[in-house]
Amino acid sequence: MIILGIESTCDETAIALVKDGKTILAQAIASSADIHAKYGGIFPELACRRHLEAILPLLHEALETAKITPDQIDAIAVAKGPGLVGALLVGMQTAKGLSLAWNKPLIGVNHVEAHLYAAMMEQETPLFPALGLVLSGGHTLLLAIESLGKYRPLGTTVDDAIGEAFDKVAILLGLPYPGGPHVERIARHGNPHRHPFRAGKVKKNPLDFSFSGIKTSVLYAIQGKNLLDTEKADIAASFQEAVFTDLAGKTALALTHTPAQALYLGGGVCNNQRLRILFAEKFPHLPLFWPPALLSLDNAAMIGGLAYHKFLEREKRSDSLDLEVLPRIPIASF
Ligand code: KG4
Ligand code: ZN
Repeated sequence: MIILGIESTCDETAIALVKDGKTILAQAIASSADIHAKYGGIFPELACRRHLEAILPLLHEALETAKITPDQIDAIAVAKGPGLVGALLVGMQTAKGLSLAWNKPLIGVNHVEAHLYAAMMEQETPLFPALGLVLSGGHTLLLAIESLGKYRPLGTTVDDAIGEAFDKVAILLGLPYPGGPHVERIARHGNPHRHPFRAGKVKKNPLDFSFSGIKTSVLYAIQGKNLLDTEKADIAASFQEAVFTDLAGKTALALTHTPAQALYLGGGVCNNQRLRILFAEKFPHLPLFWPPALLSLDNAAMIGGLAYHKFLEREKRSDSLDLEVLPRIPIASF
């Protein structure tokens, strides 16, 4: 079964063709990060305009790369949320138009669930029960996964998402947007123990995350100083180490009371090599599944892949053409 996936939740516009939930026949992707770089964060109106310009050329590109014609496509899948409302609407309206014009079923999927699925995509049989960790620009979630589609939220951020914290720290360090990869790059030459930064503890739920305090500590370490590159590297390394140590600590705590045969990770922050090394050191006996590089940032292959399972689960029923975009989706109702 071939599913056309559409992704437009934030600043990436993407189209993919995916066979049987696993095999990526084509991926076409465009990012508007270059525009947002000037503002140091996402400018929603400009993201929407870029989605509108990019989406149809990307559709043609994907069809051409895969050498697929519309009659070979079995369904149209789209990320229905969470995300920026205007951005979501571009993907949703395109999906509905194609569904109507080509007479194909429509499948709306949850973008955050798709991030987790990206790490399962290459596996024949995922290992359940498991823990899941979504680490992106918009989301920080720790979940118990009973099976595909059955999740129990364990912890989330009470303020900034982890990727957002990286992006804000990057701005403080004078690095370009999106800042995560730049913080990682300069952190390689820094001393991770130079600054005693700590991510926040959340009293109400010890598995929740808080990154706004550490961002303020970074601000105090930088403010009013003319820092040398070596000093900036120490700040980046110390910030990164503190945040990842906090993630690992909360994951370890969750493991003490949540049965898990594996840990599935998703989202753009998973590109960070220090994160991967630290988790491998902390959890030597737990199978860790990371998304492949092309599937960690926002992409449409994870949407088309996850949609395959959702579609079979509901016996190939189409969503209605009234399907609405959902800027926020409670984790419990994945
Ligand atoms: O998953 P994603 O494309 O977007 C959302 O769904 O939100 O993730 C983008 C985020 C950005 O905040 C970016 O700075 C961060 O992932 N990121 C990284 C790295 N690569 C991307 N953060 C830390 N280290 C990296 N290497
Ligand atoms: Zn995402």
